[in-house]
Amino acid sequence: MTDKLIVFDTTLRDGEQSPGASMTREMKIRIARQLEKLGVDVIEAGFAAASPGDFEAVKAVAEIVKSSTVCSLARASENDVRRAGEAIRPAKSGRIHTFIATSPIHMQHKLRMSEDQVVERAVSAVKWALEYTDDVEFSAEDAVRSEMDFLVRVFDAVIQAGARTLNVPDTVGYSIPAAWGERIRQLIERVPNSDKVIWSTHCHNDLGLAVANSLSAVMNGARQVECTINGLGERAGNASLEEIVMAVKTRRDIFNLDTRIDTTQIVPTSKLVSSITGYPVQPNKAIVGANAFAHESGIHQDGVLKHRETYEIMRAEDVGWSTNKLTLGKLSGRNAFRTRLQEIGIVLGSEDELNAAFARFKELADRKSEIFDEDLQALVNEESVSSVSEHYQLLSMRAHSETGVLPVAKVVLSVGGGQHEAETHGGGPVDATFQAIEQIVHSGTELQLYSVNNITSGTDAQGEVTVRLARGGRIVNGHGADTDIVVASAKAYLNALNKLHSVGERAHPQL
Ligand code: KIV
Ligand code: ZN
Repeated sequence: MTDKLIVFDTTLRDGEQSPGASMTREMKIRIARQLEKLGVDVIEAGFAAASPGDFEAVKAVAEIVKSSTVCSLARASENDVRRAGEAIRPAKSGRIHTFIATSPIHMQHKLRMSEDQVVERAVSAVKWALEYTDDVEFSAEDAVRSEMDFLVRVFDAVIQAGARTLNVPDTVGYSIPAAWGERIRQLIERVPNSDKVIWSTHCHNDLGLAVANSLSAVMNGARQVECTINGLGERAGNASLEEIVMAVKTRRDIFNLDTRIDTTQIVPTSKLVSSITGYPVQPNKAIVGANAFAHESGIHQDGVLKHRETYEIMRAEDVGWSTNKLTLGKLSGRNAFRTRLQEIGIVLGSEDELNAAFARFKELADRKSEIFDEDLQALVNEESVSSVSEHYQLLSMRAHSETGVLPVAKVVLSVGGGQHEAETHGGGPVDATFQAIEQIVHSGTELQLYSVNNITSGTDAQGEVTVRLARGGRIVNGHGADTDIVVASAKAYLNALNKLHSVGERAHPQL
């Protein structure tokens, strides 16, 4: 048994399966660079066979990342595995993660395959994958509801075929810690040659137990955890990376395991993922929530001031909370701007992109005296830099709200190059703005979510707005940031519309 716990991050794949969280190639590259800096062992960069865009995104991550293994997911089909193999080819260290469902309910209703057919397909998938890399992972999807004897048979067969990592997923978040740990323990005991492979766990959070189940698996012999930043993922999400890593580190007395994670990069990574995907972090979320290290009651504050360990089991700075640094101001020049972007892991592709970002920085610095790293991240998130085509552009807008008067907004848009304007009333300035936009674009979308978060503290902070729109079964999240939240809202709405306009169809790996 090794004393190392492998951290497999699937933010860019399972995290991306959250409604509206799909990411462009550029967004994935930015997150992948940060995950590499964080020190994750494996970055699951996507599902290469989903679409040509997904293939290109996985390949781009494989080209850039050097110190983490880059992995693509593949269903157990020859086409999927070969697409994954081609996508990870440029990687210094590349992995193919292939999977097939093994539970009676999935085999009967989803796959319509017999047990023999599933075993045969799993073995073939591992063999196709080995043509590209010797680092092959196999997952038994819905292992939580699979028969133990059949799981043993499948895992035995794929080990013989050459799989090096065996992943046991609780795909539907159904297990509880004692049962999950016991399942892992039994598999390791019963599968022949189980000591020649790494056992992995992948837990969903439908009952709020994903982290607890993952840790129980680790206590019973799993040496890889699959997780996501902020617990992002399908439905209630995946096990959260930061919670698992900090539990293992803080309770080393129990786990006696090390990870490669640089924990001071946890909060910056959390903020980056939140701002790119538009999924805010709840204030009371462990480790990365704004209140995670805040002490409200006088008794606690007194205790912490006298001796911090009275109420603190971890130090805020150890997970990166102190990195909220004042970075630049109105007088900072282009070189200082470029240098700071590089220091926080943002590499802009061309001089034109840098110039555009610098112009936006100057404009922001006129309105906001102190510019923090988070402001820079938000600034670079502006979609002109992150490659969603700007079919709809905000040329100008004004919104008026006054007590006792019906709010009104006027927007001037460029739509495919032509200028249009509309003015309308609404329940509030944001509502009026959205209605004015709709008067021009008639998008036929349904607004599913609207949220505003401040990027940094203070009343001059930028508001970061997320707008989720749905149309014809497709869901997208749009983001916008500005010191004026009505303007940020308009930007977010248009960003969502641009995504709907430009993003092509893609397959979901598990449907
Ligand atoms: O939840 C799951 O079962 C998965 C597999 C594809 C590993 O995400
Ligand atoms: Zn999953």
